[in-house]
Amino acid sequence: MFQEEIAKQLSVLTEIEPNKILECIESTKNKDMADFAVPIPKLNKFKKLAGKPDQLAIDFASKIQLNDCIQGASAAGNYLNFKVNRLLQVQEILKDVISKKDRFGMTEQGKGKKIIVEFSSPNIAKPFHAGHLRSTIIGNFMTNLFNELGYETVSMNYLGDWGKQYGLLAVGFEKYGSEEELLADPIKHLYNVYVKINGEAEKEEEAKKKYAEEVAAGVEPTAPLQTTPTIHDIARAYFKRMEDGDVEALAIWKRFRDLSIVKYKDIYNRLNVKFDIYSGESLVTEGMAIEFKKLQDKNLLEDSQGAKVIDLSKPNKLGKVLVQKTDGTTLYITRDIAAAVDRKNNIGFDKMYYVVASQQDFHFRQLFDILGKMDYQWQKDLTHINYGMVKGMSTRKGTVVFLEDILNKTQKKMLKIMKQNEQKFAEIEDPEKVADIVGLSAVVIQDFNAKRNKDYDFNWDRMLKSDGDTGPYLQYAHARLCSLERKSGFEFNPNANLTLLTEPEAFNLAITIGRYPEVIQLTHNQIEPSTLVGYLFELAHAVSSAHQVLWIKDREKDIAEARFVLYWAAKIILGSGLRILGLIPLERM
Ligand code: ARG
Repeated sequence: MFQEEIAKQLSVLTEIEPNKILECIESTKNKDMADFAVPIPKLNKFKKLAGKPDQLAIDFASKIQLNDCIQGASAAGNYLNFKVNRLLQVQEILKDVISKKDRFGMTEQGKGKKIIVEFSSPNIAKPFHAGHLRSTIIGNFMTNLFNELGYETVSMNYLGDWGKQYGLLAVGFEKYGSEEELLADPIKHLYNVYVKINGEAEKEEEAKKKYAEEVAAGVEPTAPLQTTPTIHDIARAYFKRMEDGDVEALAIWKRFRDLSIVKYKDIYNRLNVKFDIYSGESLVTEGMAIEFKKLQDKNLLEDSQGAKVIDLSKPNKLGKVLVQKTDGTTLYITRDIAAAVDRKNNIGFDKMYYVVASQQDFHFRQLFDILGKMDYQWQKDLTHINYGMVKGMSTRKGTVVFLEDILNKTQKKMLKIMKQNEQKFAEIEDPEKVADIVGLSAVVIQDFNAKRNKDYDFNWDRMLKSDGDTGPYLQYAHARLCSLERKSGFEFNPNANLTLLTEPEAFNLAITIGRYPEVIQLTHNQIEPSTLVGYLFELAHAVSSAHQVLWIKDREKDIAEARFVLYWAAKIILGSGLRILGLIPLERM
């Protein structure tokens, strides 16, 4: 309403269409200065205005007519600033929330469009750690957001369940495997087996290298050369059998895969994440032959000492990429080619996102380039959503922290904090579950606090922090709003007299609520959870300031009901934001 009035008046002055001016109106951050502002240079996009921007700002400011809606216009440099009727603004925003409820800020902009979000995609037998956690929560957030904006979404887990390392794992299991441990915790056990056999295999390789160096230097070798096949040789042969469809080799592998998925599902459950599809590198072997033929027909394959490579040095300088080894087995990127085609043909999408760490930037550039060279027009609909590393963990050094341990430890800590308030604690139905949700909130929000492309160091303090701007703080703000409603002695009245919300704290809170739709759009445009998280903290702070002065209990009915609506709206938005981030908003904690 306010933007429309501004656009209407400016349109008369500039002869630019109101709709175009609407695009240029900004909602200001500092509400003491102005409520809305128009950067004059932006208008030039639509029409070349005669005069300097700062002069034009002064000129326009003097010609704006003040009315019930617009209460002030002034120039500040190149900006034309507006003050509007705040009481009216508060009412407009709250009425809007009353009518739309938790659809406030949501749209149907994605209607009729289908999006595949591929995320999490852990590697069986490698740890599911804080690194994979990032993909999981970013992908989950994206799926939630797209759903709210009307898109049809398909959430997909593309398991790393194929490749030579499964040969290695099978060899390792024969040597070190324990049925009992496998059943108890397949992910951890397979990981332990993998680390052991990998360490042993590396030692063999090092000995081989040393032998070669010594021979080359003309000195007597310290140890004779290993004549039996190395662990790597056996693993390679094993994987070759898998790719050739050897029933026995596949049976063992399938068991590892199935057991791991059961366990993954537990973890995802705890993370409040669901997948529509469990796919994996192993499931695309059939399509691979067809795509290989296509690569051949298009003359894209080059021979390189018995292996096959694709030359991507032109025009994008992406080097040469190996797509088939000398023994005929495939590689990670080969499987990705087949997987993309398979998804296009069998699921279909208008857009597909790969949520994968930025270490794989180059891999995805190569993949997209190959698909382009294969003339797949939909290649332009693929996007790699990358994110920075969680540093300070290494598989080799054994400093990897498993996701489950993170969740257990945060849960324990939150439970301890909750117990400090005995009375409140007694009211909670399932404290373990609540503590788990608060713990997850801590883990997710510490991650989403910074831009996704930033690296961060893993450290426990960061995960376990429970004061300041944290996940527990957002949950607490929500639970407090719920408790306020329960204990206020009043009820939600959609016809409350909102003109009674005159205090600056009420204005500030309502305005913050009113910014939600714009924040959602920004979050969507940048696919950036930190934008939404930053906003939710502002909202929670505005709620907290309001709590200091705007009381409900024992107040006059009219005032209490108006404030009730204000807090109710804040609760709706906070809850909506938390849900999009993948968290269950708590009513008590
Ligand atoms: N499993 C891989 C890893 O953990 C990630 C898979 C990413 N997705 C893909 N289509 N390549 O490194």
